[in-house]
Amino acid sequence: MTDRYAVVGHPVAHSKSPLIHRLFAEQAGQDLVYETLLAPLDGFAATVRAFFAGGGKGLNVTVPFKAEAFVLADVCSPRARQASAVNTLGCDADGRLWGDNTDGAGLVRDLCDALGLTLSERRLLVLGAGGAACGILGPLLEEGPREIVVANRTAARAQALADRFRCLGAVRGCGLADLFGMGAFDVILNATSASLSDALPALPLGLVAGDTVCYDLAYGNEPTAFLRWALEQGAARAEDGLGMLVEQAAFSFELWRGVRPDTARVRGILRPDLPRASS
Ligand code: ATR
Repeated sequence: MTDRYAVVGHPVAHSKSPLIHRLFAEQAGQDLVYETLLAPLDGFAATVRAFFAGGGKGLNVTVPFKAEAFVLADVCSPRARQASAVNTLGCDADGRLWGDNTDGAGLVRDLCDALGLTLSERRLLVLGAGGAACGILGPLLEEGPREIVVANRTAARAQALADRFRCLGAVRGCGLADLFGMGAFDVILNATSASLSDALPALPLGLVAGDTVCYDLAYGNEPTAFLRWALEQGAARAEDGLGMLVEQAAFSFELWRGVRPDTARVRGILRPDLPRASS
């Protein structure tokens, strides 16, 4: 019987995950279907339980349910615990729900393999201190950057997040205005939700040098306000989060099916006009 997978969210109709997983499955010769699953805002747990009770094999979890999925899972991976969020769910042989988080690993894979960046000893700036920022800090710190500055509109949230991850490396939190005078960063990652409304965090001048790479975790058909700002500031590169989406999906696929998909080929199909170094 064909195995069933889905991405659960609210809203979820716009998700590119079904297309990505269909391409992975074709490529790897895997017999599966992957759909979207709209859960009511107050009905996430019931939707997940019904899916697995009906024989579903695995779920990706997207906005706004990643923290709820973390609470719902019976067992969570260390990286899901670190992020306090789950984006991949499965069911083990004893019927227990397991949860993992492949977002941060997907980002690092995209930055280091697809874009060819080195994060070790680099100065990184993470904008935002919500769920998205929390999900990437652990995997970024594992790459050994010289420091990560987490800057947020609400400074206290950035400081609290940095405190939580300080045991893993050099990370500090501050407000957006505090960035003035800190000099340019090697990599600037936009993990705020501002891009969803085409807004730009209020950033001071001087953060971008000619070799700075700017990366927006969000993606869309047009460059986000942050990526437009990056190019205006003279950044070497301005990249959106489509590559991260493909890479996190590949890690989920591997967890479920035990097969590693060829992500470079899928990225090329999704966006043939933007060739990148292959991973
Ligand atoms: P997510 O799960 O997408 O991270 P979230 O947990 O609600 O969503 O966090 C949203 C993040 O985007 C927060 O860091 C938020 O800043 P505040 O903590 O000050 O609210 C940030 N954010 C959203 N809109 C923003 C904007 N227009 N300018 C700057 N930061 C913004």
